[in-house]
Amino acid sequence: MKFSRFAIAIALSVICSTNRSCAQTPPGFSPATNKSLDATFAGTKAALGGSVPLSDTKASPLITAVQPLNVSSSHIVMMVDLDTPGGASNRSLAPYLHWLFMVPKGATRLHNETNSTSSIAPYVAPGPHVGDGPHRYVILLFANPRSSFTMPVSFRNRNLTDLYGRVIFDVNKFATEGHFEVVAATWFETERKAVVPITSAANLGSVDSMALFPWTSSLFIMGLVSWMMM
Ligand SMILES: *[C@@H]1O[C@H](CO)[C@@H](O)[C@H](O)[C@H]1NC(C)=O
Ligand SMILES: *[C@@H]1O[C@H](CO)[C@@H](O)[C@H](O)[C@H]1NC(C)=O
Ligand SMILES: *[C@@H]1O[C@H](CO)[C@@H](O)[C@H](O)[C@H]1NC(C)=O
Ligand SMILES: *[C@@H]1O[C@H](CO)[C@@H](O)[C@H](O)[C@H]1NC(C)=O
Ligand SMILES: *[C@@H]1O[C@H](CO)[C@@H](O)[C@H](O)[C@H]1NC(C)=O
Ligand SMILES: *[C@@H]1O[C@H](CO)[C@@H](O)[C@H](O)[C@H]1NC(C)=O
Repeated sequence: MKFSRFAIAIALSVICSTNRSCAQTPPGFSPATNKSLDATFAGTKAALGGSVPLSDTKASPLITAVQPLNVSSSHIVMMVDLDTPGGASNRSLAPYLHWLFMVPKGATRLHNETNSTSSIAPYVAPGPHVGDGPHRYVILLFANPRSSFTMPVSFRNRNLTDLYGRVIFDVNKFATEGHFEVVAATWFETERKAVVPITSAANLGSVDSMALFPWTSSLFIMGLVSWMMM
């Protein structure tokens, strides 16, 4: 199961890199687009739902437009978490707004800084909990027909400085009310893995059990092989 998902991701990246149209937003997400946006976190590129190590997401990614920007429009970059607060088992506060900034009209490239004056909601790093499994994050580039940014009316009374003011941020409503057109996107997953304390006693324990019960390691290999074949 896990292996086939991995195989699909590999196949998709091969297919999508050969000029075919592929969704750059998660299945079922709207607004959808086939145009990719380049977002690179501390050396890991976000693409097609691939995994980015949580530690790489502490600082905002470098966002680069793949296609040239329309110099007659201003633009907006947004990042949302689709699995707040509890991963797939509890999405009651999703989408959660992580980042929103404006790119002025006439710009030929996107900003690579988070703290510019055009920041509307400064970057907040992903914060999935242990046990949530992966959360999905979408980064969207919108064209804004106006040269300045006006918060769509339904979002005006939100306090985006307050982390609770960013919950249930309806992306479709935001885009429709603001007349923002999605022009490119990318998405990725990240998760917080359980911290397994490595003590010398635990190490000794595992060495002892391997030495005493060598069949446990062959069971492990068999398990690994069957997991890969699933
Ligand atoms: C993306 O490409 C697929 C396949 O070419 C097409 O069916 C789909 O309508 C496109 N989606 C968008 C949002 O353009
Ligand atoms: C989902 O998360 C919300 C917010 O934390 C919480 O109030 C609610 O009880 C959770 N629902 C379930 C089914 O755990
Ligand atoms: C973006 O990053 C590049 C490379 O680090 C740097 O040369 C450039 O000046 C930066 N641009 C802005 C607007 O900060
Ligand atoms: C971001 O903030 C740092 C420190 O305050 C400052 O040196 C830098 O110039 C700022 N960058 C932008 C693009 O505003
Ligand atoms: C570029 O932006 C302007 C202003 O929003 C718009 O009228 C025009 O249709 C856009 N061009 C393209 C190719 O999207
Ligand atoms: C917005 O939230 C921040 C952080 O909670 C708070 O300090 C600030 O006073 C709030 N602003 C308004 C206008 O309520």
